[in-house]
Amino acid sequence: MSEPRSWLFVPGDSEKKIAKALASEADAVIIDLEDSVADANKDAARALAAETLADAGETGPRIWVRINPLDSGRAEPDIAAIAAAAPHGVMLPKAESGADIALTARYIDEAGGAEAIRICAVATETARSLFGLDSYADASDRLAMLTWGAEDLSAALGATSKYDISGELSFTYRLARSLCLAGAVAAGVQPVDTLYADFGDEEGLMRDCEAGRREGFTGKLAIHPAQLPVINAAFTPSEEELAEARRIIAAFADHPEAGTIGLDGRMIDRPHLVQAQRTVARAKRG
Ligand code: COA
Ligand code: MG
Repeated sequence: MSEPRSWLFVPGDSEKKIAKALASEADAVIIDLEDSVADANKDAARALAAETLADAGETGPRIWVRINPLDSGRAEPDIAAIAAAAPHGVMLPKAESGADIALTARYIDEAGGAEAIRICAVATETARSLFGLDSYADASDRLAMLTWGAEDLSAALGATSKYDISGELSFTYRLARSLCLAGAVAAGVQPVDTLYADFGDEEGLMRDCEAGRREGFTGKLAIHPAQLPVINAAFTPSEEELAEARRIIAAFADHPEAGTIGLDGRMIDRPHLVQAQRTVARAKRG
């Protein structure tokens, strides 16, 4: 499977939801040990995550674990508890720079974690994090994805709301989103859009997916199984898009010497070819 389209969060202390998540159509499941788990349940969640990984078969969604932040005192023991059970990867919340990824990678190494274990990061949750988004390239070969979040950032900044007076996401959060996108692409890893909290609003989710996809995000976080069909559909190229991409690739293949080509009365050049190749690659899932 190529890059996951849907990344479903599931609270790490809920055996029932974990079972449901693993049986869902999520491309990736993120067992959460952080914000969705109360302090009193942290140890139980860690143990349940390790147990779930140990019991997991070869099929089904990839399993990631969101550990607690590096400054919580829990990150290293979280990793130590799960590394041997071979998660697909570890998600680091409140990441501020590539150095945080390097440290996470070191904890995985020290826990005897396999080379295959990936890292992804929520990279816009603190004030400092916004200044670190160009530091992820070369942080670690394990880094596979960057995503962003508005809730923790707004709390960190002292905002009373992440929305402006007209109801749109305020500039600060749109900036965070764009920096995440560019930071991920600059680092050569998957850019994944943040979650849409109103899980009953399918129309709104559809619009949000479409907006993210247009900008370059190739997947989206989810918090509820009902969001998965919408996200998976939105981040799968349509038949028309695929046909168009194949035509562009064929046109360049027919004219290997050409830098630019006319197709249906419009100019097509190299960036269109790159985009078309990406579309075809994204369609090759499964
Ligand atoms: N993963 C797996 N199953 C889930 C789920 C999830 N993220 N969210 C809901 N479900 C299950 C419920 O357990 C319920 O199962 P049931 O029909 O067998 O009882 C079913 O889907 C319908 O759930 P619903 O009643 O609509 O939602 P809820 O009120 O039980 O839960 C949330 C709402 C937000 C608490 C829940 O969706 C959730 O826990 N989401 C993930 C939160 C999280 O991990 N946050 C951290 C990242 S921000
Ligand atoms: Mg959070």
